[in-house]
Amino acid sequence: MQSYIQSAEEILKKNDLGSYTVPTHGLYPFQWNWDSCLTALGQFHFNEARAWREIETLMAHQWDDGMVPHIIFHKEDDGYFPGPDVWATGRKVPTSGITQPAVAGFAVNRLYERAKDKALAGEMVRALLPKIHKWHQWFFRCRDPQGTGLVAIIHPWESGRDNSVDWDVPFSRVPTDGVLPFQRRDTQHANPDHRPTQAQYERYIWLVQLFRSLKWDNMALRDNSPFRIVDPGFNAILLRSCSDVAKLAAEVGLDDIAAESRSFAQKGTLAMDALWDDDFGQYICFDRAANELIKSPSISGILAAFADIPAGRSKALAERVMRLSSRCTYAVASHDPAGEGFDASRYWRGPVWLIVNYMIADGLRRAGQTDVAEKIKHDSLELIEKGGFRNTMIL
Ligand code: SER
Repeated sequence: MQSYIQSAEEILKKNDLGSYTVPTHGLYPFQWNWDSCLTALGQFHFNEARAWREIETLMAHQWDDGMVPHIIFHKEDDGYFPGPDVWATGRKVPTSGITQPAVAGFAVNRLYERAKDKALAGEMVRALLPKIHKWHQWFFRCRDPQGTGLVAIIHPWESGRDNSVDWDVPFSRVPTDGVLPFQRRDTQHANPDHRPTQAQYERYIWLVQLFRSLKWDNMALRDNSPFRIVDPGFNAILLRSCSDVAKLAAEVGLDDIAAESRSFAQKGTLAMDALWDDDFGQYICFDRAANELIKSPSISGILAAFADIPAGRSKALAERVMRLSSRCTYAVASHDPAGEGFDASRYWRGPVWLIVNYMIADGLRRAGQTDVAEKIKHDSLELIEKGGFRNTMIL
């Protein structure tokens, strides 16, 4: 155990650029939204003040409308595509124009609960909660126009699960005409067989070009994107953050924030049940543009365990993890190995992702599904020993 902790600390220190941390040198040379929040949870173990700073830096780049972008391009680096010139969002410190899973509320609560320096934690929470809440309000305003309680993503990169099988059908409706020629950089840093395909990249960029042509007006993006998906894992992270913000805001006397956050969490958690699929025994995505459920058994529907879903659903998800585990050596594959489109080595179409395991195990543990939570933790540690700190799949 000690050696894992030492190597984790060494990686975080190596990737630390002072006020933010890169997910990895080379492939991801800037600050990424959810990576940063989860990185802060690791930094906390050896430097509490540095952990808070990571989230402070991210939130300092929040847009005026409340959106928190998925990449902050703090300095130039031509080793990444698409860079700031492609996004062209017009920010002083350039950022992308889309968002990412809203894990900051959860992370801030966890840092606060575990803080040894309570004075610093209190100060940080009072400064950060209004910003995080503004981001949550932005989600429900700009990504849930009908007031269903659940929000849509408008680009696969927002989910973090770039090339999930979940997007195969919705992507067949995203065109590629008019995509300007581009040169990918990711395949220079990583094995192309592990990365998204060229056809997927063309659609990623087509969407970016569309959003840019709409001048990054989030209401226009909301109404014009042909890709609008209600992703259960993405929503679970947001709803868990709302619920954690509600608790924390009440504790520090931010009563209005507490009340609205509680209502976001309750409404969304009830609405989530419409995404339940009895055949798979897990949640699935809903395609809002096509008005249909996406019958694809991805990890997103298991990550839903991170929110305060009903006890019966948590139990069913724990059983689902065990059923999936009987088909692989390690829990939890990012796509069902029996499902169409599964690929053991291609990014989000099969490989296990440790941060997702962490969130699923956390949710299951909270729901009393301790044995399965322990199994996920155990498998994750074994995977780290065999494959290092990265996404990995050993069938
Ligand atoms: N994950 C995307 C990439 O690989 C962007 O966030 O570039």
